[in-house]
Amino acid sequence: MLWTEKYAPKRLSELVGQDAAVQTMRKWVESWKKGKPSKKSLLLYGPPGTGKTAATRALANETGWQLIEMNASDKRTMSALRKIIGEASKTGTLLEGVQGKKLLVLDEADNIHGRADHGGYQALKEIIGTTTNPVILIANDRYSIPAEIQAQCELVNFRRLRPDQIVKHLEHIAKNEKIKVDRKALEIIARRSDGDMRSAIEDFQTHALVFPRLTAEQVLLFKREREKNVFDLLRGILFASSADVARSVLWSVDIAPDEAMAWIVENVPKAIRDPKALAAVYNTLSRADIFYRRANERQIYRLWSYMSDLMSAGVAVKKGSEVKAAKFEPPSYLKRYYQTAKTRRMLNSVARKIAMACHTSTHRVKQDMIPLLPILIQNKKLLENLTANLELSEEEINFLSSLR
Ligand SMILES: Nc1ncnc2c1ncn2[C@@H]1O[C@H](COP(=O)(O)OP(=O)(O)OP(=O)(O)O)[C@@H](O)[C@H]1O
Ligand SMILES: [Mg+2]
Repeated sequence: MLWTEKYAPKRLSELVGQDAAVQTMRKWVESWKKGKPSKKSLLLYGPPGTGKTAATRALANETGWQLIEMNASDKRTMSALRKIIGEASKTGTLLEGVQGKKLLVLDEADNIHGRADHGGYQALKEIIGTTTNPVILIANDRYSIPAEIQAQCELVNFRRLRPDQIVKHLEHIAKNEKIKVDRKALEIIARRSDGDMRSAIEDFQTHALVFPRLTAEQVLLFKREREKNVFDLLRGILFASSADVARSVLWSVDIAPDEAMAWIVENVPKAIRDPKALAAVYNTLSRADIFYRRANERQIYRLWSYMSDLMSAGVAVKKGSEVKAAKFEPPSYLKRYYQTAKTRRMLNSVARKIAMACHTSTHRVKQDMIPLLPILIQNKKLLENLTANLELSEEEINFLSSLR
């Protein structure tokens, strides 16, 4: 389950860092309940992933109003809205049926259908003018909405979240999911998200999927691209509905071709069920690889496009119909590199501590003592002594225990 959904606020009070917005929304609801709406409509505006859609859902949840979500860019939306509003205005006044109200939410109001000839906004203006149901417009950019419409709305500004607010929320999720994670790792994720809570949560879940114990280093190692990440790439190619889609997914991800290739090669067998299809996919990938070598060896870089098409569109075409959702993993060479890097680091730090205590060189320790450690530490008492006297960290103790 996606954590963005699992941890979406159920009530307005659970919304992080949008106090002013929440206050305005609450007041507006009260005014509707009294039958005297301050304005018929709210305009929620602000950057992506800051809680606009989530807030409207929480509000519907709290009030019991029936939520009707529509996208303004859809050409059917305006006529659907008119119909709802027409019917409602026939049946009652503003106050009547406060409980049974419909909350009409119009997302992407800055991208309304019929924008070019202003027909869309003309219709919207009339709708807000006549509605007996509460209406919420959502947009990223307030100024792309005509001033006349803005004047009909109570303006509600959603702000980018501060890194510390994001970290706190991620910590809450980590606790709930029983995930061990360094605060540093969360701080890096928060900083990268640029105030976008959605991308921070997605980023965190992606990392946690790969590393059950998340450290800052791992987060740094797998830096996420702002636009799309490598998991989107894999999902995009493996579940692509057409060759074109797969191709465009690859282009939208900022990743080196050989790296993308490694991720794809690693993960196709996890998702593709039909062995024949899998064989065909590997065949395609091997051809992609040939083009890649040729491109580099002979410096004919237009061959890269063949490679790209083969590993995206080519895979999408050959994958067959039995593709299952899989837990994607980084290429094993990357994991091996990381694991050995960590072993080396641990080895060095333990050896240094022993060397200090024994007044000898780390080189000697590694050569003469470390090989004996797995045997020695089977003695519990000795392991305890070692831990205490050398002031070993938890990580170092774990490392020693793993030597068993
Ligand atoms: N302020 C917040 N507090 C708690 N969770 C949040 C907040 N903002 C976003 N989220 C999380 O991110 C998810 C996506 O947020 P939401 O859909 O509300 O963003 P949005 O502002 O509507 O973005 P967009 O402009 O892209 O539509 C939510 O389901 C929730 O899990
Ligand atoms: Mg939204």
